[in-house]
Amino acid sequence: MSAGWGFETRQVHAGAVIDSEAGARVTPIYQSAGYVFESFDDGALRFAGQSAQRAYSRNDNPTNVVAARRIADLEGGVDGVLVASGQAAIAAALQALARAGDHVLTTDRLYEGTREMVRGSLARAGLEFEALPIDADEERWVAAVRPTTRAIYAESIANPLGEVADLALLGRVAARTGVPLVVDNTVATPYLCRPLEHGAAVVIHSTSKWLGGHGSVIGGAIVWGDGFAWSPERFPHLHEPRPHGAPSFAARFGGSAYGAHLRAVTVLEHGPTFPPTSAFLLLHGIETLSLRMERHVANAHAVLAALEPHPAVARVHYPGAVGDARADVAQRMLPRGAGSIVSIELHGGRDAARAFLDRLRLVSQMTHIGDVRSLAIHTGSTIHGKLEEHERLALGITPGLVRISVGIERADDIVADLQQALGGLEP
Ligand SMILES: Cc1ncc(COP(=O)(O)O)c(C=O)c1O
Repeated sequence: MSAGWGFETRQVHAGAVIDSEAGARVTPIYQSAGYVFESFDDGALRFAGQSAQRAYSRNDNPTNVVAARRIADLEGGVDGVLVASGQAAIAAALQALARAGDHVLTTDRLYEGTREMVRGSLARAGLEFEALPIDADEERWVAAVRPTTRAIYAESIANPLGEVADLALLGRVAARTGVPLVVDNTVATPYLCRPLEHGAAVVIHSTSKWLGGHGSVIGGAIVWGDGFAWSPERFPHLHEPRPHGAPSFAARFGGSAYGAHLRAVTVLEHGPTFPPTSAFLLLHGIETLSLRMERHVANAHAVLAALEPHPAVARVHYPGAVGDARADVAQRMLPRGAGSIVSIELHGGRDAARAFLDRLRLVSQMTHIGDVRSLAIHTGSTIHGKLEEHERLALGITPGLVRISVGIERADDIVADLQQALGGLEP
């Protein structure tokens, strides 16, 4: 439907279906648990996945399908599925690839919720995770791949310090080893970075962030391309015949076998359903993604320019900022801009962070990122609060670190609020 259209057009139209009854132009909220079978035999066909008609909203709701297809289209993928949160997206994406005894490689720069999951419930389920330095070279990644490795997992822009993964390098590793690259593209969004173009097989989003954009929905998405060869050695579950002699996912869906299995088995069995009311709000957010991202990036640059020289600020973390050893990677991966998370380290440590945050008036002190509103948080006492001090420091979470998610308000107003809150904190 959208072949040839630009991103700005597709963010408004891709995946939309005009409802045949009422002709509604805006995708309606299909708030229905299930869908009436036309007959006894029709029900059996729907359950066997042999009908274009749907059966049940747990994994197949018309409003959700439009939003999933729109995100997939913007990412350059073939299809996608929505789940209840970004966390659910990560869990489902990995559970559809790996089982007890399997191994997953990650970069050492990941959102703390993801790190908690891989150290916690996924480790208890028998999955082994191994983190390589984000700047490890291609040969080191290839050498780390084992016969049991089922995925290479990275964030395009890592939360909270903004380290940028070299997706082109990881895409080459994936092609050389037959291990799929799975990328959490939440912070970049498809407007700034499209991992599938660099060789990723699967892209994950917390749609709670910039895609939704208004801080009003929690959700997640998993989208996939169809170019990856899912080998029977690493992914036997995609090659096993289905019940009643039906062909395997690989035989039936080829390069999309992973996605078909994810939707029809993993999401159906675990049931992390995305509410269609949230999909309606998500679609409204996506319609303005490019406009918001341009403004988010411009405002982040204004904050960077104001805070880098500020005497109370020891360092600003933003891809390409002063001191970023991987600025060249950011330039290659994110030519349109590097998102809108700006993290600052205050000379005065934790006490300075407390004073700064408690004085903010416009910027809200809360957990969340990617909102139209500017938000700030001391991650060391919240998101990273369960870690020991040495673990925080190993991740670059110093006592005076504050993460700012720069919103789309007038840049001068954001900068003025940050500056008044920094007043008097100079060493
Ligand atoms: C990069 C990244 N991925 C995933 C998540 C989890 O998303 P959610 O809060 O929607 O579960 C977050 C949350 O902050 C995140 O920053």
